[in-house]
Amino acid sequence: MKLSKIREAFNNCQQVTFDQTESGQLFLNVENQWAKAQVYLQGAHITSYQPVSGDECLWLSDCAVYEKDKAIRGGIPICWPWFGPNVSNPLLPQHGFARTAEFDLLKIDELSNKTILSFYIASNEKTLNLWPTDFKLTVKIEIGAELCVTLETQIFGEKPVSFSQAIHSYFLVGDISETSISGLEPSQYHNKLTDCLVEQLEPLKFTAETDSIYLNPSNHLTLVEGSKPILIVEQSGADSTVVWNPWEDKSKEMIDFPNQGYQKMVCIEAANTRQQQLVPGQVFWLSQKIIPVTSPLFETKDKS
Ligand code: BG6
Repeated sequence: MKLSKIREAFNNCQQVTFDQTESGQLFLNVENQWAKAQVYLQGAHITSYQPVSGDECLWLSDCAVYEKDKAIRGGIPICWPWFGPNVSNPLLPQHGFARTAEFDLLKIDELSNKTILSFYIASNEKTLNLWPTDFKLTVKIEIGAELCVTLETQIFGEKPVSFSQAIHSYFLVGDISETSISGLEPSQYHNKLTDCLVEQLEPLKFTAETDSIYLNPSNHLTLVEGSKPILIVEQSGADSTVVWNPWEDKSKEMIDFPNQGYQKMVCIEAANTRQQQLVPGQVFWLSQKIIPVTSPLFETKDKS
């Protein structure tokens, strides 16, 4: 899609403008009464969400790469139709292909309390080579006093198919050593680094590399700095929550991640890490809602 074409197609929008990077990556700037946000067409990838009179909620790498077929480091990548390595072919791209796919912008709804962006991709020759399934994936992004991301998956054909997925949100924090997540406890998690099942009995704190899959966690988590809650993360349609921080050594191994970047971020991912069945014709929903401290909903929801 060309910048001039998309501008023309949505020229009556009041809350959304379009632009592109030098490398030609198209993105949307959304600004309404409640918040500002930036979303790339590649991956339907949110790179910024800042509520009015509040702080930026998402972490974005200073050395992120904005190029075709490269996932942007930070913001909210979408892992789909598999999470992590592909179970039957580890040579396929980690976290699936949606995060580097060029989405179409289906519609923009400008409401009094939020802006809703709807993007989609459908199966084509390239995707069928990677995942032999006819599908439609719609990503709905609601930008208001809260940010809500919903993945709607539909497959077509005769037979059920299994898949996995995640909304891989990178949150901006002041200092990871002062950060904790409450609401994961009590829960079991799979520590991917040691391949052990562990009990989480206390709010989660960060002192080292963390790569954990919480199985059947609460759908309501609070991100806390010091003793101050900064935002609430809710999820629905998920069988797990993934928490990731690469810490120092892994940060240095990633070319698109600043060496000390791990001190300012944590990923909290709404996920289906276990294989889920997709039945032809039925819609499978996964969503994550981010409720910043500035949202009127925050006080009613805060249980930390
Ligand atoms: C997390 C995984 O979801 O994503 C980690 O649990 C992985 O194992 C991390 O390292 C980042 O993945 P990528 O492909 O974006 O570097």
